[in-house]
Amino acid sequence: MSDTIKVLGLVGSFRKAGYNGMALRAAIELTPPGMLIETHDYRDIPFYHGDLEDESGIPAPVKALGEKIRAADALLIVTPEYNTSLPGLLKNALDWVSREPQGSFAAKPVAVMGASPGSFGTVRAQQHLREVLRNVGAQTMQRPQVTITLAEQRFSADGRLTDEATRQHIGKLLVALGEWTMLLRK
Ligand code: FNR
Repeated sequence: MSDTIKVLGLVGSFRKAGYNGMALRAAIELTPPGMLIETHDYRDIPFYHGDLEDESGIPAPVKALGEKIRAADALLIVTPEYNTSLPGLLKNALDWVSREPQGSFAAKPVAVMGASPGSFGTVRAQQHLREVLRNVGAQTMQRPQVTITLAEQRFSADGRLTDEATRQHIGKLLVALGEWTMLLRK
């Protein structure tokens, strides 16, 4: 096992000007020493349907995501909030991967964060996401919580996270994820 902690960063919105994509890019910028964050584009995963699974098995984009998750030492999931919950795109991807027999999420260390233009900063979506992750066997950190409220005030027009306090919160989350990962390795 290498000393570098390999983190797979997954975002719940592929919107070009999406705040959560910007937040994930900020996390990559703020990666602490000894950690590497890579991302994976899973937007071509089809909607889960039991007949599709029965007739065609696990689709290739799901297998690709499952392999990335299994190869990662930890996950960083950056979720928007849709109607107080996680977006269907992200839930669908997690549902599909949970159908693979390999148990990709078992004991996987996970950190969660999210950004929203509103004043809840995805706190409700994060609660739901933590519940889903608990069900698939992941070991999700409960804190520190990074809930980026009023997102349009915290990112520049070119997508950079300019809010210093939020940058520090993300840095602390990543350090905590590194420590959590090392703890779970023991
Ligand atoms: C939203 N949005 C939203 N925001 C929030 O804080 N709480 C919510 O419950 C919801 N609900 C909601 C439902 C739907 C269907 C959409 C499309 C949007 C607003 C959402 O936070 C905003 O669109 C973000 O900018 C989405 O994230 P990205 O794409 O910027 O990363």
